[in-house]
Amino acid sequence: MDRLLVGGGRRLQGAVRIMGAKNSALKLMAASLLAEGRTEIENVPRIVDCFTMAEVLQHLGAEVAWDDSTLTIDTAGARGIETPYELVRKMRASIVVLGPLLARFGRAKVAMPGGCNIGSRKIDLHLKGFERMGVRFSYEHGYLEGVAPNLHGAFVSLDFPSVGATENVLMAAVGASGTTVIENAAREPEIQDLAQMLVEMGAKIEGAGTTSIEIEGTSSFQAVCHRVVPDRIEAGTFAIAACITGGELFLEDARADHLDLVLDKLGEAGAVIRVEERGLSVAMAERPLSVDLVTLPYPGFPTDLQPQMMALMAIARGTSIITENVFESRFMFVDELNRMGADIRTEGHHAVIRGVDQLSAAPVRALDIRAGAAMVIAGLAADGVTEISNIYHVDRGYEGFDGRLAALGADIRREPSLWPALA
Ligand code: EPU
Repeated sequence: MDRLLVGGGRRLQGAVRIMGAKNSALKLMAASLLAEGRTEIENVPRIVDCFTMAEVLQHLGAEVAWDDSTLTIDTAGARGIETPYELVRKMRASIVVLGPLLARFGRAKVAMPGGCNIGSRKIDLHLKGFERMGVRFSYEHGYLEGVAPNLHGAFVSLDFPSVGATENVLMAAVGASGTTVIENAAREPEIQDLAQMLVEMGAKIEGAGTTSIEIEGTSSFQAVCHRVVPDRIEAGTFAIAACITGGELFLEDARADHLDLVLDKLGEAGAVIRVEERGLSVAMAERPLSVDLVTLPYPGFPTDLQPQMMALMAIARGTSIITENVFESRFMFVDELNRMGADIRTEGHHAVIRGVDQLSAAPVRALDIRAGAAMVIAGLAADGVTEISNIYHVDRGYEGFDGRLAALGADIRREPSLWPALA
């Protein structure tokens, strides 16, 4: 597998355009299954996860074509209802096709996702919601099959504001008969983006972006053209990269209103942030100050920026405490940061980070998408050249991350695998 070699000590400077949000694009792609016709989605990041979702749609019989960052999905021939294990294993988000397939065909079969590097990640809340809407599930040979001869609206109260469960139930509810109410719904901007596209397609939805979403089912959807919301996690990642190098970046298209708490925390750490018409600029002149943070569902501090923030706190003046409330195994990368000289101790879902003066380069692994980004960020500030392996994780979530960082002044290059045939 390719590796990234990151030389530390260069200040990042310049402007970078923030791409469309991965976690929105994937669901918008799934939502295209509701309509019969050609959906166009603009501003789709060209990343491995979106390629995998394109494969899922093709497997279901849709035709998918890329033109730069615009994706055209023609669902006229999409009659399949089964998503195989090879695809769900590559990307567990493939299970969001359940909702639209149940709405359109009254049946869906998906391989049951396993755990992943950030936790066991159950899908019980998705299934409970569907069951309330009249879906009967059977489970055999690793596959889950749902049948809904009469998919109907229901009152679905989620035990936890799960992003995936909210989206899956939402996409089933728009095509069910009657009214569905999702209580304790997730409020992430990506959910608002999905609801907006569904409404453009003909769905009737009130309250997306709040904890209570009400959906009046309908039976016909038209294919539309929709532009993906900018990726707040990518924006946050570049902002933190700017801070750790004492640099200054303009994040074109970044939405400050989706990053409230992140910008507050970076401000507390000493960053100077200016919100401008076409994006925001982030600069940090001094070594960061330590800040504490707690991850929570939106509008709380995003778990998807916790590892990157941990890398920044690793060189902060003082001690910080980071509490991870969303995924139980999202501290696994801490050992990798400690291999670079960080002083981090974890106890359950708390991490105590004693800032050190300097990180030192070491060979490390990217354990998941965001942990991989954190390793790159740590490498930008370390003494020497950090070698990061398993970088396919980074490629799953960030388009051209190394090239864009290099354009901003980073010393970063990709070293192709010595054994490409095995990669
Ligand atoms: N959970 C359950 N049961 C369920 C569903 C979720 O117990 O049925 C638990 C999970 O195990 C987890 C927590 O609830 O501990 C949150 O899970 P959620 O369903 O909210 O997350 P998700 O939909 O699986 C999406 C993003 C993640 C992001 C989380 C939280 C996509 C494709 N993925 O996952 O993004 O961390 O929401 O914001 O949208 C990433 O981009 O790197 C990433 C992991």
